[in-house]
Amino acid sequence: MKKIVILFSGEGSNLLNLIKTIHQKECIIAAAITNRPNAGGIEKAKTYDIPVEVIDHTLYGSREAFDAELVRTINSHSPDLVVMAGFMRILSPIFFTLKTKAINIHPSLLPLFKGANAIGQSFESSEKAGGVSIHWVTEELDSGSVIAQESFEKADDETLESFTDKIHAVEYKLLPQTIIKVLSSNK
Ligand code: GRF
Repeated sequence: MKKIVILFSGEGSNLLNLIKTIHQKECIIAAAITNRPNAGGIEKAKTYDIPVEVIDHTLYGSREAFDAELVRTINSHSPDLVVMAGFMRILSPIFFTLKTKAINIHPSLLPLFKGANAIGQSFESSEKAGGVSIHWVTEELDSGSVIAQESFEKADDETLESFTDKIHAVEYKLLPQTIIKVLSSNK
């Protein structure tokens, strides 16, 4: 079965969803790697015996030094695909020495609302729809070609909370689907 490595920085609800939906069914999650020692996703991964690697970015003197360790750690699991699910790091060119391609999930309809506050900006905007994009990771933040996208209409009485819940609901469906599609197209 093909192997993936998941990168995360926060709660890990997408990580948990991938463990429950595709792990040991469509692929193997070889490792979950985080840059934050207190990331909520760590316990979620450990609960399902997914190997967890913590690379605390605050201990590295430069972005390049951190990325070099990240690349070494990812390559040590020799995955077929790297999946960024809430990995909140700006990547240096060192990251792109990685042998494996990477995809990222972003909570907006790219190219709209790139960056770390996409859900808030999308909710506040006059756009009639919200949505989720999955794209290839390139050196320019949130700018790689889009692999999959799904939108939903904003309700008249939409709140930031209900909007965020709709974003996650789309994410939990679209990300496993897209990983399966990408892995099956990887020769
Ligand atoms: C997700 O909304 C993802 O699109 C964004 O960061 C969030 C991570 O959430 N990049 P979680 O850690 O998977 O709960």
